[in-house]
Amino acid sequence: MPPFPSVWYNAVVTYVLGVETSCDETAAAVVKDGCEILSNIVSSQAKIHEQYGGVFPEIASRQHILHIVPVLERALSQADLELEAMGGVAVTYGPGLAGSLLVGVNVAKGLALANHLPLIGVNHLEAHIYANWLQQEDEIMFPLLCLIASGGHTNLVLMTAHGRYQSLGQTLDDAAGEAFDKVARLLDLGYPGGPEIERVAEKGDPSAFDFPRAWLKNSYNFSFSGLKTAVLYLVRGYGADPGPGARRASDNGGLPVTDLAASFQAAVVDVLVEKTRAAAQEFDVRQVLLAGGVASNRVLRQQMKDRIGVPVLCPSAELCTDNAACVAAVGWFRLQDGDRADWDLDVIPGLKLTSH
Ligand code: KG4
Ligand code: ZN
Repeated sequence: MPPFPSVWYNAVVTYVLGVETSCDETAAAVVKDGCEILSNIVSSQAKIHEQYGGVFPEIASRQHILHIVPVLERALSQADLELEAMGGVAVTYGPGLAGSLLVGVNVAKGLALANHLPLIGVNHLEAHIYANWLQQEDEIMFPLLCLIASGGHTNLVLMTAHGRYQSLGQTLDDAAGEAFDKVARLLDLGYPGGPEIERVAEKGDPSAFDFPRAWLKNSYNFSFSGLKTAVLYLVRGYGADPGPGARRASDNGGLPVTDLAASFQAAVVDVLVEKTRAAAQEFDVRQVLLAGGVASNRVLRQQMKDRIGVPVLCPSAELCTDNAACVAAVGWFRLQDGDRADWDLDVIPGLKLTSH
């Protein structure tokens, strides 16, 4: 397959339309010059998936099909721009759920082809990192360390320049956000679990339970499944059935939900902060960037700022979770560099973060 016609290559890129459908958020955004958000529309399916305690892939892709066009229309109208004004279309092509990614990629291809716009495929993890370039007051300086903590990933990445990544470590089992979601389910809290645990943990004692921390010595990898199992055994120890109804059982059995949530959160945060601190020191970075849904956790943000030793930057909470503005931001940097996707851009559900 030939690339998009070269006549579309050289135009100056100012506005980029971002499209994101990798999981359960249907999102579109218009970003100017890679950093200024003109619109950022996110249609969340969280309420629909709540009853399953996690994302139901088939339902997610169908919901994307229903919502993608209205979301795109709102993104353009809020930015007060026509499609023709765009310098390109940027779309998440992985990692994520195949059926969900397919919706965004095909819509983005159609828009690019029909409007003679260049297309760029964006790695979802890179998009999370680039949320930090959106309206950040502090100048971002390399080399930097980035902690991506989301529902599907926990990665420590050394970044030496735009688009240059060295993976230092990742989770060996559950992602940090996944652990929040699963423990929230054990405690009969809502979905997504992270915000729910953070909310109830405010009233709990973080030192009430000494949950295990998987330090995995001499490695920047993570593991959260042992911690999750420790919570499971404790809940059972209180005579409550883990999952729906656990809190009702607590009326009788005294399940200390707030202390469990606070102690679990403290254990996750402790490991994330300590490994990030050690890597920041070893690689002598100038800054640490936080990214991904878990980075919106206020306890994590505060402890990072208190314990890391170099400036810690984090996007606003809305930009930590899935959105298309950060996809457009990556797109702008890549399009500026002359990168373009081919016609046959396909989804890659297991895409890794690599340099380009
Ligand atoms: O980055 P994201 O929106 O989607 C993925 O790419 O996975 O992250 C969603 C994850 C969920 O697991 C959610 O529970 C977690 O981020 N999360 C949080 C918080 N807000 C969202 N985890 C801890 N504390 C929060 N405040
Ligand atoms: Zn994400």
